[in-house]
Amino acid sequence: TPAVRVADAADLDWDTLTRKILACRECALCEQRTQAVPGVGDREADWLFVGEGPGAEEDARGEPFVGKAGKLLDAMLAAIDLARGDNVYIANAVKCRPPMNRTPEPAELAACFPYLARQIALIRPRLIVALGRPAAQALLNTDIRIASARGRCFDYQGIPVIVTYHPAYLLRNPLDKAKAWEDLCFARRQMRERLDK
Ligand code: URA
Repeated sequence: TPAVRVADAADLDWDTLTRKILACRECALCEQRTQAVPGVGDREADWLFVGEGPGAEEDARGEPFVGKAGKLLDAMLAAIDLARGDNVYIANAVKCRPPMNRTPEPAELAACFPYLARQIALIRPRLIVALGRPAAQALLNTDIRIASARGRCFDYQGIPVIVTYHPAYLLRNPLDKAKAWEDLCFARRQMRERLDK
């Protein structure tokens, strides 16, 4: 048996998927969580933002991006005329908080990915924004550096994926905010082009 089993979420509806995430024991991250954090927002959104994993506040509240990084994410959304829950869905690459907020390991990303895959299949967003390297790694199944992946359009099952810096990174490296702003404008243009078609 492999060290990490992979959840099978292929045909689940929203309620069953959410219940399965909340009860998940597919990897060791379940041991230290307060609760799993499935995601939040408009289930018919054009925009899907994918973060890394819950932090302390998200673990306590059961909702993604409600702490400091979440405040910045809200500002990033507002910068391109978006708002949480309005044509936007927010999820994480892993649904349970990694201890001490460490980066999720590839095996954890892989174990959790079927849940994100099912969320994407149910939402059918027009565009996905990967926030930071682990989100990009989960979606694109390859480890890429944000600096070299910015400004490009990747593909997940026919859906364009744009990669930018994670808001928590931007809080530590505010000089890179201008680049994230460019990336959001790029994403905005991609969305416009897709809506025009
Ligand atoms: N950072 C993330 O990647 N996700 C959250 O939900 C909160 C902080």
